[in-house]
Amino acid sequence: MLPVKIYNDPVLRKKALTVKKITEEDKRFIADMIDTMYAQDGLGLAATQVGVSKRICVISATASGGNYTQKKGEELIIINPKIIKKSGVQTMEEGCLSLPGITSEVRRAFKLTFIFNDINGRETKMKAEGLLARIIQHETDHLDGILFIDRLNFWRRRKILKKLKKCA
Ligand code: CO
Repeated sequence: MLPVKIYNDPVLRKKALTVKKITEEDKRFIADMIDTMYAQDGLGLAATQVGVSKRICVISATASGGNYTQKKGEELIIINPKIIKKSGVQTMEEGCLSLPGITSEVRRAFKLTFIFNDINGRETKMKAEGLLARIIQHETDHLDGILFIDRLNFWRRRKILKKLKKCA
């Protein structure tokens, strides 16, 4: 199991690096990320959240949307993801393993098209909508050092930061 970094850890604010070659070590790390995500009841996990500044995310098999349905053991592993098209709007309650106890409604695109490298390095293009699109936006944000609270308006963010300070 990997230790999940909490909101004031500087690694969460770093822009993660592109993965040029997926090594055996990376593959073992990805397997550990998947175990950690399920152990913590997360829908997704970005490498930055466990202190590794690489552009890798894993998404739970319970998330689906668009032309994609996942099964247990078929987690979505996205390396170097890039959202190339967004449309529509959805507002839903969001949480994050790096912000324990905090949830808030976040406005995101409803549909998106994105490209990424799969575990074998193949360039892949996929469409997603609804919950899956939301998770992909949340996890991709992590790779750029962005947390969901950054997407809230000033007053909402202020309220949450006060709450986080009390926990620290
Ligand atoms: Co998160």
